Amino acid sequence: MNDSIKNGNDVLILAIESSCDETAASVVKNGREVLSNVIYSQIALHTVYGGVVPEIASRKHIEKINQVIEQALSDAGVQLKDMDAIAVTYGPGLVGALLVGVSAAKAISFASGIPLIGVHHIEGHISANFIENKELEPPFICLVVSGGHSHLVVVEDYGQYEIIGRTRDDAAGEAFDKVARAIGLGYPGGPKIDKVSKEGNPEAIRFPRAKVEDSEYDFSFSGLKSAVLNYLNSCEMKGEKVNTADVAASFQRAVIDVLVEHSLDAVKKYGFDKFAIAGGVASNSSLREAFEKECGKRGIAFYFPSPVFCTDNAAMIGVAGYYEYMKGIRHGYDLNAVPNLKLGERI
Ligand code: KG4
Ligand code: ZN
Repeated sequence: MNDSIKNGNDVLILAIESSCDETAASVVKNGREVLSNVIYSQIALHTVYGGVVPEIASRKHIEKINQVIEQALSDAGVQLKDMDAIAVTYGPGLVGALLVGVSAAKAISFASGIPLIGVHHIEGHISANFIENKELEPPFICLVVSGGHSHLVVVEDYGQYEIIGRTRDDAAGEAFDKVARAIGLGYPGGPKIDKVSKEGNPEAIRFPRAKVEDSEYDFSFSGLKSAVLNYLNSCEMKGEKVNTADVAASFQRAVIDVLVEHSLDAVKKYGFDKFAIAGGVASNSSLREAFEKECGKRGIAFYFPSPVFCTDNAAMIGVAGYYEYMKGIRHGYDLNAVPNLKLGERI
């Protein structure tokens, strides 16, 4: 290893992520500097099925995991022996997929004696904000919107969270994927709706903005999805041609309106002046623009990761793993995949 990469008290984390359909590894220095970020995306494999097939995902992870880890070390110009810890996503996610990363991390840790740290996937998504925003420190509010999760979280400190809002049904990314399938855009729906929406009119169709009666920060997207399906059916019955771009743009606007309203109400109520977004849907260009504008109006500092750190990656796991490492958190070789691991829960 080049001496300038690791000096004195530097902490290097090898991070591994395999919770869904990305096999990823990364080397992160001192929690904020990404030395390598290798992502093998399986999206093309799953596209023909219209969504992630868990069994295929697990098999592909097995095929790719060692290669991705070796690439991450070599891209960073380091060797395994230079690592201070191995951080791995152990939940939530697809159990078979998670098990591949967890088993690889345990085997490497056991063979090398390097400490093992299990990391929560959503904690990783939130921590992605620390990579490019060196000045960002808790407390702040973070909206996590991905394919499996929609959470509004108070980040009280590193690794310390209070969930103040969550989806009652579909996750935001799930709604994007389902609506994209219904209007014939295919999988994965989020990036496709993002692109097609640029040619559509977001005011063309007024889709509902759902409110959850007993909880001001919870989300519900299944009603919106049904409204889009009903609209498509009624067009078909009337023999009217559907303008795909208008439907995509109007649906996207409805999702964004709800996300912006809930999030910024919470920022105000909790009295914070910092707000961040995370997760795959956070790479949506219109969502980013809307938050930039609304945060600007209210004098709130708005943070967001680059798109490559929004969708699944291991760098974010390395960042979260670093803060766990600094707190002295270590896992034993009994670490297991926990498909429904709750945020803030440590098993
Ligand atoms: O965070 P992520 O990579 O995986 C999970 O942890 O779920 O998020 C994937 C989700 C998918 O539902 C995908 O359609 C959505 O993020 N997504 C987007 C965009 N890029 C990815 N949704 C809206 N706009 C995008 N540009
Ligand atoms: Zn994710």
